[in-house]
Parts: sequence; C-alpha cells; structure tokens
Amino acid sequence: MDILVQPLNRVIRVQPGANLLKALQDAQVPMSYSCMAGRCGTCRCRVLDGEVMEGSGEQQRPFDGEQGVVLACQTYVTESCTIEIPEPDEVVVHPARIVKATVVTIEDLTHDIKRLVLRPAKPVEFSPGQYVQLQFTPEHARPYSMAGLCGDGLFEFHIRLVPDGRVTGYIAHELKAGDSVKVSGPLGSAYLRRKHEGPMLCVAGGTGLAPILSILRGAIAQGMKNPIHLYFGVRSPRDVYGIPWLEQLKREHPGLTVNVVVTSGGNPATQRCGLVTDAIEQDHGDLSGWRAYLCGSPPMVEAATVVARRRGIAAEHIYADAFYTQGT
Ligand SMILES: Cc1cc2nc3c(=O)[nH]c(=O)nc-3n(C[C@H](O)[C@H](O)[C@H](O)COP(=O)(O)OP(=O)(O)OC[C@H]3O[C@@H](n4cnc5c(N)ncnc54)[C@H](O)[C@@H]3O)c2cc1C
Ligand code: FES
Repeated sequence: MDILVQPLNRVIRVQPGANLLKALQDAQVPMSYSCMAGRCGTCRCRVLDGEVMEGSGEQQRPFDGEQGVVLACQTYVTESCTIEIPEPDEVVVHPARIVKATVVTIEDLTHDIKRLVLRPAKPVEFSPGQYVQLQFTPEHARPYSMAGLCGDGLFEFHIRLVPDGRVTGYIAHELKAGDSVKVSGPLGSAYLRRKHEGPMLCVAGGTGLAPILSILRGAIAQGMKNPIHLYFGVRSPRDVYGIPWLEQLKREHPGLTVNVVVTSGGNPATQRCGLVTDAIEQDHGDLSGWRAYLCGSPPMVEAATVVARRRGIAAEHIYADAFYTQGT
C-alpha cells in the first residue's frame, strides 16, 4: 500500500493498518509531533485523497476530520492515500516528557494575574509559543503557556485568576515558593515559524501575552528581521501588564510595533480604545503573505481569526492555541 506525501512528492510503502505518524517517521518524512496521544495538535496534517481510520482495534472508525485534517498520531492507514504535510521546513520535534519542577517565584503582575516561575529538575526543549500541562496536585492540573525561551533554564507563566476557578484558586491561595509541580509537554502547534520572512501579526488577549512574548523573544533570538505588529487587548487599564518588557523588545527589534487596545477607559496618549479586531481592521487592508499568531480567550481568538482571513491571511498561516477551558 502507498502513501503519497505532498508537497515532498515522496511515495512511502506501508503495511495495511500502519499508524500514519510512525509510517512517516520510519520513512524519515519531516513531521512535527509531541504528545503522541492526540492531545497537542502538533502532528496535524491533511488527507487529500483516500480514506484513513481513527483509533485502533475495536474503537477504529473512519476519520472524520474537517476538510481532511487529521492527527497523524491517531490515524491508521488502510488504503493508498495522499497526505499533505504542513510546512515541512518548519518541523519541530520535542518529544513530550514529564519533569518535576520547583516553584521559584509566585508574584502579582496585576490585580488578577500572577507571574509563576518554575525551575525544572531537567531541561525541557520547546519552541516559542508552546505550552505545557502543569499539575500542582492530582486534582489541580491545567495547561499554561511559557512566556520565555527554552534556553532560559526556568519556566515563566502568566496566570489569570478566574472567579471560582478551581486551579487558579489553588494557585492564588495555596501554592508557594518551594512547592513541587509536575510539568508535561511541550504541547501546541502555534509555535514560531522561523523560516518565514514576511510581516507577522501577533494578537494577545490578556495572558495570551505570555506565548506572544515567547514568540517575540524567539524571533529576536533567531535574528529574524520581520516587521511584527502586536495587538495586546485587555478589558480595562488595570489589566495592562508587561509594558517594560515590550519597550525592551522594541529597542531590540525596531520592526516591532505595539498597540495596547483597551476595551473601555484607556488612556488615549498611550492606548487605543475598543476591540483588538477593530484596531487591526482600521490599520490594515490587505494582509496576504502575512503570518498570524493569535493567543488568549477563545472568543477573541475566533474573532481575530475571522479578521485575519477576511484580510487575506491563508488559513494554514494562522496559528492559534486558544485558552479553552478544560472539563475537569
Ligand atoms: C492551550 C492552553 C494554554 C493556556 N495558557 C494559559 C496561560 O498562559 N495563562 C492563563 O491564564 N490561562 C491559560 N490557559 C487557561 C487555563 O488552562 C485554565 O483554563 C484557566 O486558568 C482556568 O482554570 P481554573 O481551573 O481556575 O478554572 P475552571 O475551574 O476550569 O473554570 C471556572 C469557571 O470559569 C470559567 N472560565 C475558565 N477560564 C476562563 C477565562 N479565561 N475567562 C473567563 N471565564 C473562564 C469556566 O468556564 C468556569 O465556569 C490555557 C488554556 C489552554 C487550553
Ligand atoms: S503528537 Fe499527535 S496530537 Fe500530539
């Protein structure tokens, strides 16, 4: 049985029932992956032709991904097919691992945002913009995005305290310096594309600034010269944070423009008033050829995706891991 790999134009021979990610790896096709468990989305690819199955054994059923999009680690090949690999020159492979870490600092950034710094017992590689699952106790685990780079030796997170939030309540009232935290990851597909040389649109809602800072820092560390347009949206002036970091990044990267957009009550001298999506539409006509990184609450990410598409950014060049709420 054959898999034709686009855009590499390679034909791979596989056994019927082979796992797609394993088959691609065995044939040394460049393919991003991390969790191998269908959780992180890193191994997303598209089936252009032929039917594939989801799951293994008795649970197996035809994969019903939107527009042919499947997770290679969860996909099994039962007939000849054509697979499109996204951006083979931007592949990242950081196998997910579980590492013990210790709380170094937990401090206030705003009235409801904490900055949490952890020291991992062993180094964990990740790409700018990715996230990990933090497990504080067996009952308190949630995903959070790194604000720094993997060379820092420390993990930095910005965590907004949600009213009646189970895990953020624990972080606010019980977590202290010296406590142990289990870190699993890295996860996520909204990481910095280092080969892209065109303009970048970065949109951060609230603590979505954390992964965007990581992306900005990563771009600068890589020596990327791309024009970068950051839109940082918050509800009110007291939600703004990180301005000294952004000023520093602007000094390091003259192509960075920063727009702080406050829904209401902003200072017109330094801030814009309204929604980030309106600010983007006011500032830009055609964004074709741009890449977009969208981070923060799901409604903001969904609205920014619509604007980015309307302004001409290709769907596959919009990178987003929205902060969806977990069930348990
Ligand atoms: C990929 C990913 C990355 C993430 N990265 C970050 C990050 O860097 N920083 C960060 O602060 N959060 C981040 N989150 C969100 C985080 O994982 C938790 O969902 C959040 O901290 C709330 O957890 P909780 O247990 O306190 O609230 P829960 O007990 O799960 O929820 C309590 C109530 O609050 C509501 N709720 C939950 N989150 C929000 C919200 N953001 N706004 C309004 N209402 C809400 C819930 O619907 C529920 O009604 C990320 C989520 C994902 C999926
Ligand atoms: S590696 Fe497939 S979803 Fe994480």
